[in-house]
Amino acid sequence: MTVLVVDFGAQYAQLIARRVREARVFSEIVQSTISAQEVRAKKPSAIILSGGPKSVYEVPAPSLDPAIYDLGIPILGICYGAQLMALQLGGEVAHTGGGEYGRTELTRQGASVLMDEWPEAQSCWMSHGDAIASAPAGFVVTASSPLAPVAVMEDAERRLYAVQFHPEVAHSERGQELLENFLHHVAEIPPTWTNTSIIDDQVAAIRAQVGTERVLCALSGGVDSAVAAALVTKAIGTQLTCVFVDTGLMRKNEGEQIEATFTRQFGVRLIHVKAQDRFFDALAGVTDPERKRKIIGELFIREFEAVARELTEGDESPRFLVQGTLYPDVIESGSGHAANIKSHHNVGGLPEDLSFDLIEPLRSLFKDEVRHVGEELGLPAEIVWRQPFPGPGLGVRIIGEVTRERAEILRNADHVVVDEIKKAGLYRELWQSFAVLPAVRTVGVMGDGRTYAYPIVIRAVTSDDAMTADWARLPYDVIESIANRLIREVPGVNRVALDVTSKPPGTIEWE
Ligand code: XMP
Repeated sequence: MTVLVVDFGAQYAQLIARRVREARVFSEIVQSTISAQEVRAKKPSAIILSGGPKSVYEVPAPSLDPAIYDLGIPILGICYGAQLMALQLGGEVAHTGGGEYGRTELTRQGASVLMDEWPEAQSCWMSHGDAIASAPAGFVVTASSPLAPVAVMEDAERRLYAVQFHPEVAHSERGQELLENFLHHVAEIPPTWTNTSIIDDQVAAIRAQVGTERVLCALSGGVDSAVAAALVTKAIGTQLTCVFVDTGLMRKNEGEQIEATFTRQFGVRLIHVKAQDRFFDALAGVTDPERKRKIIGELFIREFEAVARELTEGDESPRFLVQGTLYPDVIESGSGHAANIKSHHNVGGLPEDLSFDLIEPLRSLFKDEVRHVGEELGLPAEIVWRQPFPGPGLGVRIIGEVTRERAEILRNADHVVVDEIKKAGLYRELWQSFAVLPAVRTVGVMGDGRTYAYPIVIRAVTSDDAMTADWARLPYDVIESIANRLIREVPGVNRVALDVTSKPPGTIEWE
């Protein structure tokens, strides 16, 4: 049972899709150019039209195939989607000039299944310039606000509903309830999309796809590849072989943790490639950030290829490769919003001349859903709730030449930063918190002696999607304990600084 969320303007649709899933109903985002025939082929149980940044009177403004209203599928229009529905079905939308932005009071009129048991007056969150001036024939108006005479309208017989405010944003106090009323009571979709059902569905799909073939998976230490591998293990057990390439630039204990989880807990065959020496050799004397990334990326692929080729020579060579692709990657690459696509070279990417069929069990999931699935599969919290880590690892956090000694200092420093952040209970609310080692040395004094050692920079940011970020206002006492421990516990460090740059103008990583 799927709900289609029609996208009239990037960010709104993703948020709605996530709220629908929170109501335990599967949702899929589609472009507004979708035809009635394409909709029918997808057999959705309901459709939600998202908001968008345009006015319905702008030229061009996105529209919807009007035949979609006649398919007999329940539809909820939100903001732009509500106005479009009103206009297309014969109502009127007025170019009011003045709009409502932010908290607005909604006054109810009569009974409504969407707002069952709501008080007469309810605050909600609005963001509109135009407003529906009159509802199309067949609709009754069930709520209004000071500047939106038709804030909610409904045609219960045709199961068409429209709301001017944004039920998907947290500021709309009873917004989630409205969405759930629409999904469960209007469209009559039961709340059955749970972590367990996601796992069961994927396990069945993977078994059907793979049969008795062998499968390969590159583990990076990150959340996505770990959850994807755990899912595949549940589906096909020992047909899976995992490869973990230790570049020498991983976080502290990352390799051991992967090994403990996958080999001992899940009984997976894990090939642990200890390639540190080859990475440090290749990086000797290199200081340019782009060259570093390139060297690390290419060497990773070569190491992975070597293992894959070795395995490919036997009788039962692996035919499939597991990839931890997530839903936002799928939406971004399919939507043509080119500006949103990250061009990071992802270490762990597919070697081009090795041909595998792909298994992408997380393709329809958002990051937080991946984490919950991972927990349910029994992965340890340290892996599931881990903050993002760049593919080139500590290599882009050592500013200057990457050496074994510097990597070791930074790994220990990073561990101290993360440990103190966790103790302070801040780890999950920060997007990332880590240490950076600029390869310069400064003079200090410790005990009776003069020191000449590295500074460590504390970098902690909050963010929703890494496209923009703010520096985290860490409490002074947390900064102090991090700084004290860095100096005391990490030989080679004699000074600590705090990075107070947001993104933009900075990036999250230093290189
Ligand atoms: P920046 O530094 O560009 O980073 O603000 C945005 C997010 O992407 C991560 N990052 C990477 N991830 N390979 C990756 O898989 C990379 O080369 C890479 N570089 C940066 C970074 O940690 C942050 O979360």
